[in-house]
Amino acid sequence: MSRLIVVSNRVNPPSGEGEESVGGLAMALAAALKQSSGIWFGWSGQTTPEFTGHLRIETVGGVTAATVDLEDQDLDEYYNGYANKTLWPLFHYRTDLAAFDRAYDAGYRRVNARFAETLRPLIRPDDLIWVHDYHLIPLARELRALGVKNRIGFFLHVPWPAHQVMINLPRHRQLVEAVFDYDLVGFHTPEYQQAFEDYVLNEADGLVAAPGRLKAFGRTVEVGAFPIGIDADDFARLVKSPRAHRMRDLMTACTVFRHLIVGVDRLDYSKGLEERFLGFERFLTDNPDLRREVLMLQIAPVSREAVEAYQEIRGRLDALSGRINGEFSDVDWAPFRYVNKNYRRDELAGIYGAARVGLVTPLRDGMNLVAKEFVAAQNPDDPGVLVLSRFAGAAGQMPDALLVNPHSAEEVADALRRALAMEKPERIRRWRALFESVQREDVTAWRNAFVAALAGDAALQAAV
Ligand code: UDP
Ligand code: G6P
Repeated sequence: MSRLIVVSNRVNPPSGEGEESVGGLAMALAAALKQSSGIWFGWSGQTTPEFTGHLRIETVGGVTAATVDLEDQDLDEYYNGYANKTLWPLFHYRTDLAAFDRAYDAGYRRVNARFAETLRPLIRPDDLIWVHDYHLIPLARELRALGVKNRIGFFLHVPWPAHQVMINLPRHRQLVEAVFDYDLVGFHTPEYQQAFEDYVLNEADGLVAAPGRLKAFGRTVEVGAFPIGIDADDFARLVKSPRAHRMRDLMTACTVFRHLIVGVDRLDYSKGLEERFLGFERFLTDNPDLRREVLMLQIAPVSREAVEAYQEIRGRLDALSGRINGEFSDVDWAPFRYVNKNYRRDELAGIYGAARVGLVTPLRDGMNLVAKEFVAAQNPDDPGVLVLSRFAGAAGQMPDALLVNPHSAEEVADALRRALAMEKPERIRRWRALFESVQREDVTAWRNAFVAALAGDAALQAAV
């Protein structure tokens, strides 16, 4: 049987329920690798002054992790630089924040080449190789240069931006050309797939050879939409765990006679936190009768702290959360809790379960797994309401959420009011539809669909 080699910048084999928060990608890959005798290759999270190429191999939670240290300069130019100052803002439509620097470009190519050289000796001829996310777009190109002939797939966990946004990237053709060294490329949504196709047709003299097959740069690549999901069974287990129960009881006790509104996001400008805080402020201003009936809790563990844009958004959120509490609090009551701590997912399951409203309003988000976790944690007899941004990939699969434009404080405020007033039968009806799709389109379905397409396994593809 062929092995699955998964490659991503961030590697986080499951270490039990208390695993660190590392974002949706690592959560999903840990779940996706659980059932297979595969290898997860990537960065160790450590740096050394000089690159050694030394592989650390360990088996954690049934997953074999093979990791390599990067050198300090790599961290600056590849991770903080090209990945998080150039591609991340651009792919999330923040051209104003995107930095273009040839040193970042060179660092990105250098690290991709280093990853390829370090990974090469681990590859057996019949392995399937599955590369993840914007850090590693040119990896297949580097592996092919080393003679790797295996089937290689790529999955993008962030949006593929509209053609007119993409062309802001210097040397964009070079980056897209590298995509054509893969056999299969997956996106979360048909919209991102379409944006990629638009680019190929408009900028690369490409053509659609057949539905889902694009031809350009003298090569052909298969493309498809594979919406990622959560590990629904595992999450159901977390919801019933003692820690989740304790957390739910704690939150219920501190919201007696009040409804809990909850947001959980990495502290990232793409998550729309500033706009969300303004939406909540607007809600408090517009609804004096409801002020004492709510508590908003925003959990936002810090992320990518070396990048200036993240330091700046953090400063703005500190000021805004202080302003909202200063404006509306009373001696015995405050409307807002803003917490920069990271919580375990079993604890989050308890917090979601105690909430009447899940407020998930990114300005752009590849998918957003928090929205799905919120739904999975609800009590079927008295579920909370999901308020979700139209610009999250998840919105296409979750039409029964209250969909909002996250830029409009008025829309967010109105959706909060509507969610709080919603009668139980409507909450139950909406929740059932959402829960059904969260269960059906889970991480196993995502993995199986992609791997079957990559393996070119028609029987398996028909079955998923
Ligand atoms: N998360 C966590 N602890 C926290 C905050 C977030 O474990 O304190 C997890 C959350 O449960 C989810 C993931 O981090 O599984 C975030 O994934 P999402 O797709 O929503 O966003 P991303 O961070 O990948 O952009
Ligand atoms: C998003 C990205 C992932 C990334 C995660 C956490 O989910 O798509 O690739 O791992 O954020 O970010 P970090 O920079 O800490 O790995």
